Amino acid sequence: MKKIAVLTSGGDAPGMNAVIRAVVRTGCENGLEVYGVERGYEGLIKGYFRPMDLRSVSDIINRGGTILYTARCPEFRTEEGMQKAIQTCKENGIEGVVVIGGDGSFRGAKDLSERGIPCVGIPGTIDNDIACCDYTIGYDTALNTIMDAVDKVRDTAESHDRCSVIEVMGRHAGYLALNAGIACGATATLIPEVTVDINQHVIARMQRTMQAEKKHFIIIAAEGACVDVMQLAREIEAKTGVESRATILGHIQRGGSPTAKDRIKATQMGNYAVKKLLMEGIGNRVVACQKEQIVDYDIFEALKMEKTIDMELYRISHEVSI
Ligand code: ADP
Ligand code: F6P
Repeated sequence: MKKIAVLTSGGDAPGMNAVIRAVVRTGCENGLEVYGVERGYEGLIKGYFRPMDLRSVSDIINRGGTILYTARCPEFRTEEGMQKAIQTCKENGIEGVVVIGGDGSFRGAKDLSERGIPCVGIPGTIDNDIACCDYTIGYDTALNTIMDAVDKVRDTAESHDRCSVIEVMGRHAGYLALNAGIACGATATLIPEVTVDINQHVIARMQRTMQAEKKHFIIIAAEGACVDVMQLAREIEAKTGVESRATILGHIQRGGSPTAKDRIKATQMGNYAVKKLLMEGIGNRVVACQKEQIVDYDIFEALKMEKTIDMELYRISHEVSI
């Protein structure tokens, strides 16, 4: 391949810029022409191509968001939209595409690959919900952002002897919530993978810790657990007598400068996608991080895999938070 493109798709994640940088620099250093596609698959359909060179990715390794912008593009999910994207790639001589995003974006990459435009997916999502990967770009930064925010909430919860119920992102997955629960010493953590009885799991736990002199509490709920945190705070206050407040952390979790881990993994994965795959004429793959090693999978196989939550971690989180 001599001419490749890179795009970011779905929700942005800190570290996407570091991937773009690695893809562009690896391509340029190896004699490829590299184009950035703006606004994900929408840009592929509409031909929003931006020529990239070594300097066009200067000073972005430390920046959150994505310099190529991102989008969710319903049109791309139709055969007509996909054909338009293929046509645009062909008109511009694009021979391969690096798609940075989550599993929705990888489904699009699979469809494109099957229709003659080889794509390589790189997992970029704060949710850490890609089955073939232990780790997705943006997850570590988001987890640390949550930890900083919850630490701040803890200061005020402690000062007022209150309970703070905090909703964190993660879409349908509980990885952010579970690990934030451990890192922040939550009394209870609610995740979509485990159905619990609120009376037993939250109220009774709080009452037990109150007997052990505990006066302030952090409860973490994953958005995917589908708990109304405002309502839960009211219920806790009514049943325990502890004044309670709810906080929805929201999009603050998606922003900010990526951590060292995200920058390093992003750089490794971006380099791998170009050097080990596209330059060798290999597409329809997902780059993944497994046990600290960078590996790759067939996209179709990767999408069929299922990811489970670490139940031992879940057990520990509750055993030590009482
Ligand atoms: P993420 O990549 O973070 O999971 P989305 O699920 O929103 O985010 O997907 C991003 C984009 O990928 C969608 O807006 C759409 O253009 C494309 N996409 C999602 N699912 C499919 C699918 N089944 N087939 C083709 N394209 C898809
Ligand atoms: O996939 C990343 C994510 O931040 C999820 O955690 C969350 O459910 C979703 O995107 C929010 O999407 P939006 O920015 O469209 O509200």
